[in-house]
Amino acid sequence: MSIQHYLDVGQLPHFDPDLADNPPAIVVALRERIGRVDGILISCPEYARGIPGSFKNALDWLVASHEFPGKPVALFNASPRASHAQAALRLVLDTMSANLVESASITVNLLAKEMGEAEIAVDPQIRRQIVSALEAFKGWIDEKSRVPEKQPVDV
Ligand SMILES: Cc1cc2nc3c(=O)[nH]c(=O)nc-3n(C[C@H](O)[C@H](O)[C@H](O)COP(=O)(O)O)c2cc1C
Repeated sequence: MSIQHYLDVGQLPHFDPDLADNPPAIVVALRERIGRVDGILISCPEYARGIPGSFKNALDWLVASHEFPGKPVALFNASPRASHAQAALRLVLDTMSANLVESASITVNLLAKEMGEAEIAVDPQIRRQIVSALEAFKGWIDEKSRVPEKQPVDV
């Protein structure tokens, strides 16, 4: 399994529906990247009981894309307190026809712990949670790719 970080959320221009069919190059690149991956892991904080505007902006650029609908998505929530943003994300992702994989979506308690990546990776409980969620995500994707597409019915 290979995991790539998408680092350009903050570089995306604000969503403009007039450009949705002919978007800026950075949006084209994001959509192409989404098209190439088997699944998307979203780890998004909660701001003022909602999805941070910058992240919702990124999702808005993907609403009219061909690449996003049907894509397997797992939510990695880092704060047990942040339930509102997770609920809002679920609603938005459902509206965008994502395939939300619940068995791969977890809440890891990192609230106020100030742990770095290295500490998170060796913490036995957190490590177990993350590894089993990644395995569930991979298993779900592998299983899905084995299911043949429904054939059109002859009438
Ligand atoms: C502007 C702002 C608003 C926030 N609003 C909420 C909130 O409504 N609910 C919540 O659980 N956490 C809220 N937080 C906390 C963040 O979700 C997050 O836990 C905190 O920024 C720590 O993240 P970090 O470890 O990446 O810095 C807010 C943080 C900021 C900066």
